[in-house]
Amino acid sequence: MAPEVGSAQQQQQHHQQQIALRSGRLPALAKQRPKALQLTMQLGLRLSREEQATGGIASLRLLGLVPDLLVQSIGWCCVDRTRNAGEIHIHRQLGWCTYGGAEKVPRIMNLAGKVVLITGASSGIGAAAALKFSQLGASLALTGRKVDNLNEVAKQCTGSAGAPFVVAGDITKEADTERVLKATIEKYGKLDVLVNNAGIIETGTIETTSLEQFDRVMNTNIRSVYHLTMLAVPHLVQSQGNVVNVSSVNGIRSFPGVLAYNISKMAVDQFTRCVALELAAKGVRVNCVNPGVTVTNLHKRGGMDEQTYAKFLEHSKNTHAMGRPGQASEVADAIVFLASDSSSFVTGASLPVDGGRHAMCPR
Ligand SMILES: NC(=O)c1ccc[n+]([C@@H]2O[C@H](COP(=O)([O-])OP(=O)(O)OC[C@H]3O[C@@H](n4cnc5c(N)ncnc54)[C@H](OP(=O)(O)O)[C@@H]3O)[C@@H](O)[C@H]2O)c1
Repeated sequence: MAPEVGSAQQQQQHHQQQIALRSGRLPALAKQRPKALQLTMQLGLRLSREEQATGGIASLRLLGLVPDLLVQSIGWCCVDRTRNAGEIHIHRQLGWCTYGGAEKVPRIMNLAGKVVLITGASSGIGAAAALKFSQLGASLALTGRKVDNLNEVAKQCTGSAGAPFVVAGDITKEADTERVLKATIEKYGKLDVLVNNAGIIETGTIETTSLEQFDRVMNTNIRSVYHLTMLAVPHLVQSQGNVVNVSSVNGIRSFPGVLAYNISKMAVDQFTRCVALELAAKGVRVNCVNPGVTVTNLHKRGGMDEQTYAKFLEHSKNTHAMGRPGQASEVADAIVFLASDSSSFVTGASLPVDGGRHAMCPR
């Protein structure tokens, strides 16, 4: 019978395992006890109640202190190991079962059981957010117009909650937006997090932006956000969930030459604050991230050719205090933070993820 979690017997096993490690006997021990749960006990790791109930197979949380030496020593079964802000994340393969965990798992690192709908998940920031949420155990609904791209992103989402639900749609079409939300609720029965990420950019000044362009940008970047959020709110109130909007540094600072885009993103920020105030008492948080220049397809789709885009990225070294453009995964980290319980007292916030660009006054 497995020893009681945290018991003297388990501590003794942990001690024995340390000795085994030093004497190189761990692989032999693991072969004798092939089940993941038993190996976990052998390693002296504690399982949460939920993990015990599921046999600890899908997702093991390492609650004890796992010294680096130990992580190195079990490298023989280590598939992936990354460090992030002092956390150690390890995913191990043992025979027929794969499991992973994080040392001293903070609440941010666990979105298991949460249902997250991400718009614009077929590319760039939305795709990076999908991967991040998947790694943290969330169940995903991914939407965008390009089904092939959505399926490609879904394939890469290999988290413990299983394959994401892919539901294609054009969020500027009201019927599509309604269908996307309805299908997500039908699939999962609830919604915990809405990530309004889909967006486009178009260049033009007050002298050169047509009304048609203005409508296209506003419809995509803010009207659709309004519509989808409106539909999602009853479900979010029920789940005590939250919304993360993807705005831009253009929402909080002014730049010439992208007028409609600036206005649309400023509207996203104002929408975020207003809805946050309206829903705070109902237990729903609403926040946004404000990325600086981030390497994605956005600008090229907005009309920049390869050469101009390369120059634009080079110029970003001067326009961003940190001397570089951002990566989609860096924005995704901020989205996940705002979506998680780690930001439980944050609402109505616009979080710049821009290497300091919002604070700059270049002379
Ligand atoms: N990249 C940057 O420098 C930057 C900076 C600040 C803010 N942002 C914001 O970040 C968000 C994501 O952009 P990104 O940089 O990741 O660009 P991206 O790589 O071009 O991705 C844009 C996403 O939006 C989706 N989308 C656009 N119009 C849509 C529509 N009508 N219906 C459904 N989906 C639609 C696209 O889906 P399909 O391809 O499937 O149509 C795609 O998945 C945008 O809101 C953007 O304004 C980006």
